[in-house]
Amino acid sequence: MPVPPYTLTPPFNTVRCAYVDLAVSDLDKSQHFYDNTLGLKTTLRTDDAIYLRAMEDRNHHCFVLRKSDTPGVCNAQGFKVGSEEDLDKAKVWFESKGIPAEFVEREHQGRTLRTRDNHGAVLEFFFEIEKVPSLLQKYEEYKAAQPLRFDHFNCFSPNVQESVDFYSELGFRVTEYTAEDDNDIMWAAWMHRKGTVHDVAFTNGMGPRLHHAALFLPTAIHLIHLCDLMSTTGYLGNMERGPGRHGISNAFFLYVRDPDDHRIELYASDYMTVDPDHEPIRWSLLDTQRQTLWGTPAPRSWFEEGSEFPDTPTREADLKAQPIIAH
Ligand SMILES: [Fe+2]
Repeated sequence: MPVPPYTLTPPFNTVRCAYVDLAVSDLDKSQHFYDNTLGLKTTLRTDDAIYLRAMEDRNHHCFVLRKSDTPGVCNAQGFKVGSEEDLDKAKVWFESKGIPAEFVEREHQGRTLRTRDNHGAVLEFFFEIEKVPSLLQKYEEYKAAQPLRFDHFNCFSPNVQESVDFYSELGFRVTEYTAEDDNDIMWAAWMHRKGTVHDVAFTNGMGPRLHHAALFLPTAIHLIHLCDLMSTTGYLGNMERGPGRHGISNAFFLYVRDPDDHRIELYASDYMTVDPDHEPIRWSLLDTQRQTLWGTPAPRSWFEEGSEFPDTPTREADLKAQPIIAH
């Protein structure tokens, strides 16, 4: 049985995925891409970082772009927890698993616990964060794709079952998964805390690496508008896959690469999963409609390229099965 029973009382309360921290080479180029083109709002730009938020955000940032000599690295995946006490519980839990966990200073947020998952992907947990006014009804601020909120992370995992088992202990629940026809070995899995299809997903491949971070858009039309915008403002080559609709999650999607090749998904129309007895959907690895209900198949780069985590060795996937790739 690949899907573990749901853990409804986890050792600490993770509320949702909340921010991604990316290393970039040129803040001007990054700001033009994320703010002017995707439509995020710059909360603050300093000499070495840009903090951006989406329209619904009441938090200071959901994207942090840090100038770096090693661009293309994902510095951290950020998760909101339910209270300050949950941070202390989280530290105890990770250390009980033999995983180092330490409190670090992060500008514009409170105590931040920096640690790793079972494969080494960098995680940061926080409760307090500087508050900013919501832009939800500041329609004069809406532009480009009008992203509403941070939606999820997707990571390459060298062993998806191991990832699922680890995150299940933390209360993440599987909503959908892909497995080979002749066995139940997982090739990919989608897991949530916040009651949508996912906060985290895992794709079989050399890992750990960040495959993409995703923003939720109001409608598919906003995504189509982004295609028009990118194709006429010098970003045609940054559109990697889509638009199309996933079978898994039902999302209308577009994948783009930022100026440092970080992959961002723009995403609309998934569904609610909050019921504690919500049952996972199993998809066959041979069913091409699981990844593309309609639209062109994913290119090879989509299956092979991703952002590494700092000082983190990667390893080949244990499972060698490959889905169908467009060449
Ligand atoms: Fe995604």
